[in-house]
Amino acid sequence: MPADVAFRIDLPHGRCVGVRIPTGVEQDNLLSLAPGLASLAEEERDYLESLSPARKPTWLAGRIALHEALRDLGLDAGPILTDRRGAPELPDGVTGSISHKRTLAVALAARRLDGLSIGVDLEPVPTLPPSPSEPGWDSRPDISSRVMTPEELAALAATPEPVRRREVVLHFSIKEALYKAINPLISRYVSFQEATILPHPDGSVTVTLALAKQEGPFLAEARWSEISGHLLTTAAVRPG
Ligand SMILES: CC(C)(COP(=O)(O)OP(=O)(O)OC[C@H]1O[C@@H](n2cnc3c(N)ncnc32)[C@H](O)[C@@H]1OP(=O)(O)O)[C@@H](O)C(=O)NCCC(=O)NCCS
Repeated sequence: MPADVAFRIDLPHGRCVGVRIPTGVEQDNLLSLAPGLASLAEEERDYLESLSPARKPTWLAGRIALHEALRDLGLDAGPILTDRRGAPELPDGVTGSISHKRTLAVALAARRLDGLSIGVDLEPVPTLPPSPSEPGWDSRPDISSRVMTPEELAALAATPEPVRRREVVLHFSIKEALYKAINPLISRYVSFQEATILPHPDGSVTVTLALAKQEGPFLAEARWSEISGHLLTTAAVRPG
């Protein structure tokens, strides 16, 4: 029996599985993930043991989600450890990515054809109280200038709060998904200024890469949607 699967869906960039992470329990209580834990390989269980109690549930839920997504595609990647950059270590012919927040982990998986590399990210949908003067206003710092390019900031300039805040988080999430897809191809840190994106209401995204070291060329795509109270973003990058 699989762990607490929240959804399994086909997205344009791959098979996506979400796994609920237990909350309201001791951080190291992995009980509701136990069926998935039992299905992991010994190497994965050993790696899990080396993690802090706070990291165990998210790492485990992410691994379970990725194994489930691969199984849905008829693929078995064997034990999925972590490579030196922090990405899931997958065999030739397979590409996949993981993201987790407090209550939910997701994984995206696909066959690796033509050098395809994919990424996924998850962010809770920001709460949208009507104005900063009202109770419940989200007082987290504004990350727009760190995450967005001058062109993106200009496109957002006319957007009123609180929609603006949601757009900033959406840009952040799409760029994290892009990073997870690009990083395995170029093996270096990619800054938030190296991609300009324009998310559209239908879930499509216009992506323009401006890689500082001129790697590539690459074809880069991204998509966004909402699921289980989260923004779910995906990216696909291939040599082109
Ligand atoms: C690595 C990074 C993307 C992780 O994002 P996060 O919001 O902190 O955490 P998430 O839960 O979404 O993702 C964590 C997962 O990312 C994956 N990951 C970590 N490093 C990775 C890398 N270099 N490449 C691909 N995937 C990676 C791992 O699977 C990890 O989960 P696990 O350790 O349980 O296996 C982020 O910390 C980071 O360093 N970003 C770099 C800057 C950036 O995004 N630039 C944008 C360029 S357009």
